Amino acid sequence: MSHADPHRLAMDEITPPPASTVVVDRAGETDVQLIAGPVSTGQGPFCFLPGAQFGSYRLLEKLGAGGMGTVYKAVHMKLGKLMAVKILAAEHLQHPHALARFEREMLAVGRLNHPHIVQAFDAGAFQGTHYLAMEYVEGMDLHRLVRTRGPLSVTSAARAVRHAALALDAAHRSGLVHRDIKPSNLLADTTGKVRLLDLGLARLGDETSLLTNLTAAGSCFGTPDYMAPEQWDDSHAVDGRADLYALGCTLHFLLAGHAPFETDSHKTMIRKLAAHVSMPAPDLQASRPSVPAGLAAIYSQLLAKRPADRLPNAAALAEALLPFTRRVAAADGSGQRL
Ligand SMILES: Nc1ncnc2c1ncn2[C@@H]1O[C@H](COP(=O)(O)OP(=O)(O)OP(=O)(O)O)[C@@H](O)[C@H]1O
Ligand SMILES: [Mg+2]
Repeated sequence: MSHADPHRLAMDEITPPPASTVVVDRAGETDVQLIAGPVSTGQGPFCFLPGAQFGSYRLLEKLGAGGMGTVYKAVHMKLGKLMAVKILAAEHLQHPHALARFEREMLAVGRLNHPHIVQAFDAGAFQGTHYLAMEYVEGMDLHRLVRTRGPLSVTSAARAVRHAALALDAAHRSGLVHRDIKPSNLLADTTGKVRLLDLGLARLGDETSLLTNLTAAGSCFGTPDYMAPEQWDDSHAVDGRADLYALGCTLHFLLAGHAPFETDSHKTMIRKLAAHVSMPAPDLQASRPSVPAGLAAIYSQLLAKRPADRLPNAAALAEALLPFTRRVAAADGSGQRL
């Protein structure tokens, strides 16, 4: 396969394996069963059976679930158009300000039309349950991609993060901070383009906040492995530079297979907090010796504790990554094929 376009990931890295394929990870330690078919049952009130009607949409299959709700592949019945519908968990909209803020954020998100941002089409409520309908993107999110196929090549990781930086540049210019940048919110489509998901949703988690959820593992505020030091302190006050920190953690995940402090010695929430706030960023080249010094320097700068010490903005990051997105031979033969 030729990969003439240096701005895209290789197709063979992102085309999902067929349903029910057993994938053995790089270390040969785990078997991962990919179930691509419809999920017939689920837990909680937000799981619908495939074929269920939800407002104007017919839900075809469950694509996944996270802290904010459950995502379905769906068809808009009147338009006959394939979409992804995220049905939001009710707890996030119970706070008096949450709904107004969600609607405000959706107005900003709806105006964004960018090649690296999954486009939102509709936001509303059906019988009291809020949802967001967006473009359906065939592909695989980067968390699942790395978990099933192993870490990316240096070039592909740089391209993926650059695509995310371009998306963030557009979002930040529109006054939106993502606040939940992580590999599962980056979707690689089947052409090799990486697209940003869940813009405008993270603030829904604010009221059902970090402290109230410290004891509820896997609960709504998202994984702490990507949270900037200042976001642990005051999640309301952060600016786009918190997204840059999270993108640095994402770069580490793509190349090393885990987030910087996602190790056995940082299992508890309090240890993760302490690590992000005061421990030096782990050496990326120690995990992946083939990472060029220049890329490792960008990673270290993104993980600076003080926002002012990071790259100044997402556009500067996209620019800095450009030299690493060109295809080079993998020095250590590791990572996925370029
Ligand atoms: N627009 C879309 N098109 C195709 N697949 C999608 C789309 N949006 C989400 N998905 C799939 O649904 C999965 C679940 O998404 P969801 O956002 O609920 O999970 P998460 O990112 O792990 O958690 P959260 O964002 O709530 O913290 C995604 O990882 C992705 O595979
Ligand atoms: Mg998500």
